[in-house]
Amino acid sequence: MHPMLNIAIRAARKAGNVAIKAYENPSSIEIDTKGANDFATNADRAAEALIIETIKKAYPDHTIIAEESGLAKGNDAETQWIIDPIDGTTNFIKNIPHFAVSIAARVKGKTEVAVVYNPMSNELFTAARGKGAQLNGYRIRVSNAKDLDGSVLATAFPFKAKQHSDSYFAVLQKLFTRCGDFRRSGSAALDLAYVAAGRLDGFFEIGLKPWDIAGGELILREAGGVITDFAGNNNYMVSGNVVAGNPRIVKDLLVSTQNDWPEKLRN
Ligand code: IPD
Ligand code: CA
Ligand code: CA
Repeated sequence: MHPMLNIAIRAARKAGNVAIKAYENPSSIEIDTKGANDFATNADRAAEALIIETIKKAYPDHTIIAEESGLAKGNDAETQWIIDPIDGTTNFIKNIPHFAVSIAARVKGKTEVAVVYNPMSNELFTAARGKGAQLNGYRIRVSNAKDLDGSVLATAFPFKAKQHSDSYFAVLQKLFTRCGDFRRSGSAALDLAYVAAGRLDGFFEIGLKPWDIAGGELILREAGGVITDFAGNNNYMVSGNVVAGNPRIVKDLLVSTQNDWPEKLRN
């Protein structure tokens, strides 16, 4: 196994244990509000600290980009770890067992290894570049849906950017008439991993952050999926606007919605 994947898995499992302990003892959870409908807890911070400690022990020079503590430049700026200690904090706070630790490592801008770990279901999604994607060690692949007809898609409401509600719900309504059904799970990292595993046929969301995307992205690609922005391009890490699925689903999602997004979301 890729040595960095080994470290990522070790770190994810340790962080997952922190999350489980807090989840089982909800009165220990302290919540602060970072922005509109945007929360962090003491468990997010403790899990993140443990992930960083585990990575730094193995790779003291690497650079870290983590949701709660930000950027910690290392001597090696070309190797970056992108960390979301708990993706799905609202679920975590509400005691809904659907959240994940997401860790990706990028070398010279290319993601080499990735882990998305749901500690509550003990589901470990992993990938190494060029080596495929796995769930608990078994190879996974995207679904073979041909188009949106009958497909099950995931999305998220723009709960942190409600100014986009009108355009978002117009797109949702249009897609809803085409697809079979929708899910809104509350964890973008797990949404991407579920698409990778063929549990969902596609996914779209407005305004994600790099740590929501980086782990799930490699897992999805290694499972045969594609991910683009709303124009079908590669600007999604910057814009945070993401469309994901097997190549045919992504094409159908893009063609179906290309004229519906306002100019400022079309990237
Ligand atoms: C959030 C989750 C959620 C998505 C939000 C993210 P967080 O991450 O991925 O599913 O809809 O856009 O911010 O804040 O729980 O790490
Ligand atoms: Ca997140
Ligand atoms: Ca988070």
